[in-house]
Amino acid sequence: MSDGFSLSDALPAHNPGAPPPQGWQRPPGPGPFPAYPGYPGAPGPYPGGPGPHHGPPGPHHGPHHGPHHGPPGPYPGGPPGPYPGGPTAPYAEAPAAPLKVPYDLPLPAGLMPRMLITITGTVNPHPNRFSLDFKRGQDIAFHFNPRFKEDHKRVIVCNSMFHNNWGKEERTAPRFPFEPEAPFKLQVLCEGDHFKVAVNDAHLLQFNFREKKLNEITKLCIAGDITLSSVVTSMI
Ligand code: GAL
Repeated sequence: MSDGFSLSDALPAHNPGAPPPQGWQRPPGPGPFPAYPGYPGAPGPYPGGPGPHHGPPGPHHGPHHGPHHGPPGPYPGGPPGPYPGGPTAPYAEAPAAPLKVPYDLPLPAGLMPRMLITITGTVNPHPNRFSLDFKRGQDIAFHFNPRFKEDHKRVIVCNSMFHNNWGKEERTAPRFPFEPEAPFKLQVLCEGDHFKVAVNDAHLLQFNFREKKLNEITKLCIAGDITLSSVVTSMI
């Protein structure tokens, strides 16, 4: 798989001297999920977008028109702060209630190059599969689907679906970075002509665009055997 263009090529040098093998090297910083440029507490200038999505959806799981923050409730006496559970939150150590899965994230302006979606969660015990679906209407521009027990093997399947027909599966991921009951950070970066996927700060795979109308890819659906902690969009 060719990957001549790394994420860091597109970024200002933030760690000069350090080799950027796959372009997903993060800059130095504190905490388990240190900041990428713009991640995640930054204002996140996703045009027309809802900004960072943190915490559980609360009672209103409908269309999102603004920042999607966790409910006021889970921290008695806690701050009304906008980023419960977020790495920059004052109460960052308090575990946020999980987001309900399946989880739909509206992307009002669609995708665009340099848009980064960061998903944190934990794989459930005895998982079968989970998936991300970047959707344009009913079509799936990018289906990312780790399978834990396909013929007793673990495999990551990527595909697209147009007019209800699955396309050609790509099964080229060089490793399977998910484990039952283990937390993960999964990042999808929209590039100029492909998606890049990184797990736990290490590049995993890329998927060339099949659907090129990025601005019409207006929904991310997350489903399957995971517990979801946060979904954050940002621009890098
Ligand atoms: C099918 C499966 C779908 C999707 C697709 C990807 O077999 O039912 O959920 O994962 O493969 O090619």
